[in-house]
Amino acid sequence: MARSSVHVSYATVPMVIVMTVLCLFLANNVTHARMPASYYVGGVYGWDPIIPMDTWARGKIFYAGDILEFKYDYQTSNVMVVNRTGYETCIANEGAKEYTSGDDRISLPYGLSYYIGTYDASDCSAGLKMAIRAIS
Ligand SMILES: *[C@@H]1O[C@H](CO)[C@@H](O)[C@H](O)[C@H]1NC(C)=O
Repeated sequence: MARSSVHVSYATVPMVIVMTVLCLFLANNVTHARMPASYYVGGVYGWDPIIPMDTWARGKIFYAGDILEFKYDYQTSNVMVVNRTGYETCIANEGAKEYTSGDDRISLPYGLSYYIGTYDASDCSAGLKMAIRAIS
């Protein structure tokens, strides 16, 4: 009886070590959580179809909570947050949110999100459109 309980507690030791290491590892990951990154959409060009905005976004890894900063001339452009249909058709869907300040900071939600410019009818089709997938 005593022998078997001793045996059990020795068997538990490696498990405790594994759990402790695991907890330290997880706690370390939490305390060293990544700070949200900020991006100027379009880089030096800003929110402008001088380069297709999807080209700017390509190859970058975005995380939910990252900040997209859209800079543009509010007298000649805008930003609409649309759904996939709006992105594909270049026509803002019902319920799309419009930004018009010329310097909009938008926090990226998890998953796919879509942005188009509609101030001028040709803006979106000229490349002022962007689909972004943010991971967690
Ligand atoms: C986008 O929104 C419109 C209007 O609410 C809706 O009819 C359409 O199905 C939506 N598209 C997607 C892909 O959810």
